[in-house]
Amino acid sequence: MKSNKLAILALYISLASCSTKDELKTEQYFAEGFQLYTTNCANCHQPGGEGLSNLYPPLKGAASLGKKELLPCIIRNGMNDTIMVKGKEFSRPMPGNPKLTDIELAELVTYVTIKWGKDSTYTSIESVQKSLQNCAPLL
Ligand code: HEC
Repeated sequence: MKSNKLAILALYISLASCSTKDELKTEQYFAEGFQLYTTNCANCHQPGGEGLSNLYPPLKGAASLGKKELLPCIIRNGMNDTIMVKGKEFSRPMPGNPKLTDIELAELVTYVTIKWGKDSTYTSIESVQKSLQNCAPLL
């Protein structure tokens, strides 16, 4: 039957273009993370992740992207500290995002660590939940 052949062809193409389940998940998380970043973060950290003068620190190339267990805590709880990022001091508070769900945090962490850090695969919900259990009261 013709439709059957088409279905097999479609399956073959999707398998060939997304060779593994992890790659597919990485693409999904990255795409969702981009949307979430645009809505919740880009105002301050800027669409290109370069930050804004001495008000908002850059994410692009920031050391924090290598400390992945901190990211879910920073995003959910915000931050109120004086920090050095790429040689510059920042001391404004960052508001928390209590409404973002665990999966949304995983998607955001996936986006920023692949886009501006050194990751090449997605961050799982499980690892986000583990990080959230160990958030320091003040970062
Ligand atoms: C209202 C502006 C604002 C928004 C919105 C915002 N941030 Fe921040 N962010 C800041 C400021 C200011 C700091 C520095 C906080 C400090 O000095 O304690 C910061 C710090 C950070 C840091 C640690 C320092 C660095 O540059 O690596 C990360 C990571 C981060 N923000 C990620 C995010 C993500 C992801 C979002 C979106 C969910 C977000 N921020 C939304 C203002 C903001």
